[in-house]
Amino acid sequence: MIFADRVLGVKPSATFKYDAAAKKPGVINLTIGRPDFDTPQVIKEAAKKALDEGRVHYTPSKGIPELRKAIAEKLEGENNITNLDRDKILVSGGGKQIIYCIIMALAGKGDVVAIPNPAWVSYEAQIKLANAEVEWLTLKPEEGFIPGEDFMNELEETNAKLLILNSPGNPTGAVIPERTIKKIMDVCVERDIFVISDEVYEKIIYEGKHYSPASEYENVITVNAFSKTYSMTGWRLGYCACADRAIIDRIDIVHQQSLSCCTSFAQYGALAAFSDEAKLAAEQMCEELKSRRDYVMKRIGEMDVVCAKPGGAFYVFPYFNGADDLELADELLEKGVGVVPGSAFGSQGRGCVRISYGSANIDLLSQAFDRIIR
Ligand SMILES: Cc1ncc(COP(=O)(O)O)c(C=O)c1O
Repeated sequence: MIFADRVLGVKPSATFKYDAAAKKPGVINLTIGRPDFDTPQVIKEAAKKALDEGRVHYTPSKGIPELRKAIAEKLEGENNITNLDRDKILVSGGGKQIIYCIIMALAGKGDVVAIPNPAWVSYEAQIKLANAEVEWLTLKPEEGFIPGEDFMNELEETNAKLLILNSPGNPTGAVIPERTIKKIMDVCVERDIFVISDEVYEKIIYEGKHYSPASEYENVITVNAFSKTYSMTGWRLGYCACADRAIIDRIDIVHQQSLSCCTSFAQYGALAAFSDEAKLAAEQMCEELKSRRDYVMKRIGEMDVVCAKPGGAFYVFPYFNGADDLELADELLEKGVGVVPGSAFGSQGRGCVRISYGSANIDLLSQAFDRIIR
């Protein structure tokens, strides 16, 4: 078989690869990008009820109207994004599928898409699948991977059409302060750059306050998902929102022609994510994750690494000065701890490893750090 050019330059997901390698007896798997909590019961019951009521058919491609209405209200109430209605919302198969549809709709041959370096592995792959070009904007370990002078200078020079922002961020856990996001947005407005704001970790935040740029800027598509907040990674539900309905309608064409619509009963389940019961469960999960983060930072303090305290998500991204991160990840796997090498996330991740505490309790983390430190 001669494969299409678009797929030849794209590697399989490094996080899936290292996760598979860490699934060995005796290995503590800290590669996993998901929380180890169950989906709140109220959401599961709502999905079961929808199944029992025979809600098993295609839904409108953008998503069931009730869910899109609830998302528009959430974005207005919690994120101060006031220029939306349900037609400006699109529900698709997880944050990943939404970002893929956006990139396919907005970027193509000759277009440049700027992403932070390091960044979540799928941005680069998806941009390449769209035949567009990636431009990396430098983040630095010593700045806690928050956009600094280098990032801003590179942004001011870029001829990118799109920029992807991600706060709280994967793989670093960094929460970008509101003032920094505004500085970035001002440059983007001036240079006519459209922004994809990936906010899938918005509710997993320990310090600082989440800021959605779409609350003040029009040139933004906001991306979110039910996956991380409600531990629904297997449900495959995410969404995007934009003040410009014509943009959503174009993205919907990619979504319609590839997926038609999301799983019907999963969408009815997701409606219950806006209940008080589900919100409480999400807050409790975040509290537990914060205890894990604090424990992890205490143990990281015992090592000679550069690692700013991450304000959100469930990752730490320590920098081991002078280390080869691929060798380090292999060596740690041999010693019984699975991590993802930092260079999988971009060249600025060299010398780092991504440690996820989303799926390991403090007891397991304690054993894992004993091995890492040894
Ligand atoms: C930054 C970021 N964006 C988007 C996603 C996609 O999430 P999902 O497709 O599971 O909703 C992930 C998953 O790891 C992520 O880390």
